[in-house]
Amino acid sequence: MKLPDTARFSTICVHAGQEPDPSTGAIITPIYQTSTYVQDALGKHKGYEYARTQNPTRAALEGNLAAIEGGKAAFAFASGMAATGAVMTLLQAGDHVIVTDNTYGGTYRLFERVLRKYQLDFTYVDTSKLGEIRRAIKPSTKMLFLETPTNPVLRLTDLTAACEIAHDHNVVVVVDNTFASPYVQRPIGFGADIVVHSTTKFLNGHSDSVGGIAVAVREDHIEWLRFVQNAEGAILGPMDAWLVLRGTKTLPLRMDRHNASALVLAEFLAAHPKVARVHYPGLTTHPQHELARRQMRGFGGLISFELGSLERARTLLNNVSLMALAESLGGVETLISHPASMTHASVEIERRAQLGITEGLVRMSCGVEDVEDLLADVEQAFS
Ligand SMILES: Cc1ncc(COP(=O)(O)O)c(C=O)c1O
Repeated sequence: MKLPDTARFSTICVHAGQEPDPSTGAIITPIYQTSTYVQDALGKHKGYEYARTQNPTRAALEGNLAAIEGGKAAFAFASGMAATGAVMTLLQAGDHVIVTDNTYGGTYRLFERVLRKYQLDFTYVDTSKLGEIRRAIKPSTKMLFLETPTNPVLRLTDLTAACEIAHDHNVVVVVDNTFASPYVQRPIGFGADIVVHSTTKFLNGHSDSVGGIAVAVREDHIEWLRFVQNAEGAILGPMDAWLVLRGTKTLPLRMDRHNASALVLAEFLAAHPKVARVHYPGLTTHPQHELARRQMRGFGGLISFELGSLERARTLLNNVSLMALAESLGGVETLISHPASMTHASVEIERRAQLGITEGLVRMSCGVEDVEDLLADVEQAFS
């Protein structure tokens, strides 16, 4: 089995990073559930010494995700937040970071509550407005941290343009690509230096693992991330690496369904009299629909919509029966949630208001069930 250099996306998803197991021929990479490796003689080993430093299952996943994202190397961590935390160790005290204002609440919490203690400085701007990025750059700016589409109001940033601005000022661009998945958008192709994911979401895709990945291109970044993965030790375990590796094989199939069902649901919600507003990049009413068409393949599986009040949101959330009321996203099951009190509870009320994360906002992660059943569930919950 040899992956041709010309292999296309779905082929890369199935095969990259993996060879049949050399000892048995097992087509699926085994779960190497071991903490250490026996050495042949002093100083003579098979490339594996201790499992924090090297693990073959994790290495297969890292090779797979580096290829899927179009990077040169990838490093797997115990969660998406651990991956972001490791990437931030590229910085030093006094460095300044520009961040998409509507970034994931846990990312905001890490930056504000943890990393400020280490004298890192953060400015949050609406990165969908390129002028705001330009204005925020100062001599100490070392990183631009983007999320597109944003969680939960699905605003987009023009990746090509944002990377150009950043690189003109020697600023490294990191993109959290969790919401889109690499099937929908590959930021490195638009100029990004590092991509991070919560693999917990679309990459694993089956709601049965928590993990994170950092994909890099530059040799200095690769060298540091490899060092810090081992030095800090927040590695992904072999069982989780295996689960994500299984997930990425079907990523294109799942994403096609997520994309298609979310568009149907978004159109249904946009026409529904009980819904005040729908945020979905696939709708022609989305302010950046044209950018979405250029930058994304399909429009993703996430929708958020405004019901006008907490009471109305509560009524919907408590009455769906097929959809599950739960945090997280990107699994085969449809999940529905209330960002203000769930995923974004750690963001201050005033900030939430500025970002449009109102009490009446509901977020839906469309799964791969039959879309007619999802439509019927929303309709019965509304009525
Ligand atoms: C966009 C985004 N980035 C990062 C994370 C953090 O990932 P994890 O929960 O795997 O630490 C999340 C989690 O919801 C997320 O939605």
